[in-house]
Amino acid sequence: MEILKTINEVRAKIKQWKREGLIVGFVPTMGYLHEGHASLMERARKECDRVVASIFVNPMQFGVNEDLDSYPRDLDADSKLCDSIGVDVIFHPEVSEMYDGGFCSYVDMNGLTKELCGKSRPIHFRGVCTVVCKLFNIVTPDKAYFGQKDAQQLAVIRRMVKDLNMDIEIVGCPIIREADGLAKSSRNTYLNEQERKAALILSRTIRLGEDMVKSGETDAQKIISAMKENIASEPLAKTDYVDIVDLDTIEKTDTIKGSVLVAIAVFIGKTRLIDNFIYKKD
Ligand code: PAF
Repeated sequence: MEILKTINEVRAKIKQWKREGLIVGFVPTMGYLHEGHASLMERARKECDRVVASIFVNPMQFGVNEDLDSYPRDLDADSKLCDSIGVDVIFHPEVSEMYDGGFCSYVDMNGLTKELCGKSRPIHFRGVCTVVCKLFNIVTPDKAYFGQKDAQQLAVIRRMVKDLNMDIEIVGCPIIREADGLAKSSRNTYLNEQERKAALILSRTIRLGEDMVKSGETDAQKIISAMKENIASEPLAKTDYVDIVDLDTIEKTDTIKGSVLVAIAVFIGKTRLIDNFIYKKD
């Protein structure tokens, strides 16, 4: 496995692989990798001839009061994990390699970015779309792998690829959870012991919503209210949002029909965590 830091090195490597007719899989990450990322890389390893993972904490997707500076980083551990899975190349650029002094072009999106995380993190998806577009242009993968835990991000990337005619297959992969149900996230590391216990309110609330939907409840407001009430029962938790949206358009829906995304964001102390489930009604 090689760790490449420059765009030119990645391009040269990819050119060589493409000349040999190899299928390239790509897993974009911000590092501090966990089993969720591992599942994406393992899937890419199975489905592609070569696998590239990027590790880049993208400043453009963090708001001013967010955790850019404290975002956890551990390149040694990340490299070991990637190597054990059989990743061929890690792309680990400096910020200056991705954004030079004169940088002023962005990929912005209307619609899908207005609800859920887009409401409380207004510049987040512009940063995500811009960096993912840049990474796609650098790596030119055949397939790219994203986790369903960031379900809005997955929908946004699918839309961007469609709208901008990018010839890349986007593969969505299931949420990976701890044994007690907490969805894996690099941000779980911010939680102290008490907060870690309190964070179980997210997966419990998701299960509550899922049970209501599966037992036939179709009134979105009823489900949202019950889920909010459940979060309020945990003293360390503060709801950012509980919403039910169409899975593809990320528009709010009053009734459970078609494919819906039930998504929550909850502050546990200062740490903001997200979780969700997808329900497909025929
Ligand atoms: O999901 C993430 O880790 C990031 O948003 C991504 C897709 C790597 C872009 O920085």
